[in-house]
Amino acid sequence: MSSAEATSAQNAAAGARQGAAADAAAAEQRPGVDWFADLDKHVDQTVMTSDVCKVYIMGETRIPALDNVSVNIAAGEYISIMGPSGSGKTTLFNCIGGLTKPTSGAVFIDEIDVAQLDANELAWLRCRKIGYIFQSYNIIKVMTALENVTLPMLFAGVPGDEAQDRAVDILTRVGLGDRVLHTPMELSGGQQQRVAIARAFANRPAIILADEPTANLDLHTGEQIINLMKEMNRESGVTVICSTHDHKMLAQSDRIVWMDDGRIKRIADRDEVEITISQLSEQQH
Ligand SMILES: Nc1ncnc2c1ncn2[C@@H]1O[C@H](COP(=O)(O)OP(=O)(O)O)[C@@H](O)[C@H]1O
Ligand SMILES: [Mg+2]
Repeated sequence: MSSAEATSAQNAAAGARQGAAADAAAAEQRPGVDWFADLDKHVDQTVMTSDVCKVYIMGETRIPALDNVSVNIAAGEYISIMGPSGSGKTTLFNCIGGLTKPTSGAVFIDEIDVAQLDANELAWLRCRKIGYIFQSYNIIKVMTALENVTLPMLFAGVPGDEAQDRAVDILTRVGLGDRVLHTPMELSGGQQQRVAIARAFANRPAIILADEPTANLDLHTGEQIINLMKEMNRESGVTVICSTHDHKMLAQSDRIVWMDDGRIKRIADRDEVEITISQLSEQQH
């Protein structure tokens, strides 16, 4: 496991722990801040980052992971973040997901500045507003697929029977209707990632953050996973932000953001990219 992956796993675990502690209360009662009650209102831009910088300090060393990243992501969009390892993708996701605080700049979710949220509100945001999908699936090994998908709904205050029915429905939707009682050990990598997708969609979030969800999968299985996420994006209108360094995964994206060295290098619509690819192949022939 690389240091970045270890960080991502630690963040996920920390997020889950903090979330679990505060989630039951947070889910039951909406946070008290007036403007926060509007979190379900319709907005055009689901995610906005404004000049986000993140510098990690390790002893004497400063590691600039994000350098003035500004991007607006519309509600319902499927956006891919491309970039080599170390370019800042996971750090950006952690800032958007409220797992890491930017060193400077701001992240807005549904036009609300995440930095303004207290611990309870952040837990609510992470539990209800955002679904996470990770490269290494991060599903709980001693639990069945059904239990893994039911758990976040229980945290969010959904009654047990309803949570279980919804979990069966969504597992069926991702093609695992006949595997609900299997534990991760009894599932392939692609199937484990399907469980993670079902879990991420369980609380009907507004945003899915998928951090290199196909990196551990073979090409064919990876394509199936991307196609599934795209179908669920289309059906549910959930905004999907997916990082990858595989160019073959771009076909399903509405827009593509290229990152390098903590900076956004380019943002393009898929159509522009298709033109570029076809021009390139024409030039080669
Ligand atoms: N918790 C951390 N502490 C120190 N440096 C980190 C931490 N997380 C990431 N980094 C560094 O920040 C840079 C961006 O990392 P990351 O966001 O994980 O990129 P990517 O996801 O694109 O591989 C890298 O140089 C990485 O080593
Ligand atoms: Mg990463």
